[in-house]
Amino acid sequence: MKTLIYGGHLVDPAQGIDGKRDILLEDGVVKNVADHIVEDAEQKIDATGKIIMPGFIDLHVHLREPGYEYKETIATGANAAAKGGVTTICPMPNTNPVIDSPERVTELLERAKQSPVHILPVGAVTLGQEGKELADIAGMKRAGAVALSEDGKSVMDSLVFRKGLQEAAGNDMPMFSHCEDKALVDGGVMNAGARAEELGLPGITNAVEDVIAARDIFMAKETGCQLHLCHCSTADSAVLVEMAKKQGLNVTGEVCPHHFTMTDEDITEDHGRFKMNPPLRSRKDVEALKKALSDGTMDIISTDHAPHGAEEKNQTMKKAPFGIVGLETSFAISYTELVKAGYLSLSGLVEKMSANPAKVLGIPKGTLAPGSAADLVVADIDTEYAIDSSSFVSKGKNTPFDGKRVYGVIEKTFVDGKLVYEK
Ligand code: DOR
Ligand code: ZN
Ligand code: ZN
Repeated sequence: MKTLIYGGHLVDPAQGIDGKRDILLEDGVVKNVADHIVEDAEQKIDATGKIIMPGFIDLHVHLREPGYEYKETIATGANAAAKGGVTTICPMPNTNPVIDSPERVTELLERAKQSPVHILPVGAVTLGQEGKELADIAGMKRAGAVALSEDGKSVMDSLVFRKGLQEAAGNDMPMFSHCEDKALVDGGVMNAGARAEELGLPGITNAVEDVIAARDIFMAKETGCQLHLCHCSTADSAVLVEMAKKQGLNVTGEVCPHHFTMTDEDITEDHGRFKMNPPLRSRKDVEALKKALSDGTMDIISTDHAPHGAEEKNQTMKKAPFGIVGLETSFAISYTELVKAGYLSLSGLVEKMSANPAKVLGIPKGTLAPGSAADLVVADIDTEYAIDSSSFVSKGKNTPFDGKRVYGVIEKTFVDGKLVYEK
């Protein structure tokens, strides 16, 4: 089966391409990329006026299966990914049961067999994410886990965490760190600051994140483990990642679209749709994160797609669970807020969403070089529209971005050369 996509504008930083190219897919891989390809393909797609990019790789997604299928299933989450142009997702292990053993990894991959996008599981650091006993890290790696994380919380016992980092390093797996000092949260539900005071809500200070980010960087240094800091939300997290890079450590930082676009001042009412962990921070933090994305300190954009039921989120900040969805809006928000606003080139955005996540995982994706898997998106970046959560295919409609006007429509998504989504 051959597919020729012609007339489009290809953006592939790994090949240094940002220009008009035709691309030929055959048997699931990219066969040829050239100015003009003449080929008798079964499928021919006119991409004139459209952008072609390597499919996005989202290192931070919550799929909720097994255990919380009313929030999301592997199928609904994977379809949301395909619609968002995300061709590979890494689901976090905080399901019920927790993905904390080789058997659970195998079972998850079994359930994911029919998925339209690639699913690369993240295993828990400790059994049941209880922070006490290490999970069988080597076994999970053999079963197909690509990284480790206690996401939803930090491994608070530093000695247990050190052992986890040593095991991760020994098995050549990156550690994805959710940085949150448990005791310091002290019941907080939103960013500590003037807005929290106005709303009469308990605050989460920046230090809740920063002290663990610093701890994890120094422990990664001591153990030689590859460290990836999840959902960085503070100005000082960028300072810390910059410091780690200057020391030559293998440390990367991820930022989620909500953290580089919204501030706590955008919280117009005490409602659960504004509640996520880490929380929406101050204007100063948001500006620092955009600068860090722009100058390369922050490497990756991921969503922390965290679907919840409507009843759960339609409550006050104190009662609602933490988390918002993101798979179906990440490209449009990032394109609008970073590329159109001048912080990144489109090629720079593709680095953050495709090439760099592939590097963190050490997988040969995130590029459309000949021989690569034909995971790609065709997008329209010229049409403005309003985000409408009622159109989401994810079960989760919980987003603070409803009604936001953006550019960036994913028109087609291919995984291994197969069309898995079409607008
Ligand atoms: O907002 C969040 N939601 N942050 C997390 O760390 C966990 C996630 C979830 O699982 O809902
Ligand atoms: Zn987290
Ligand atoms: Zn998460």
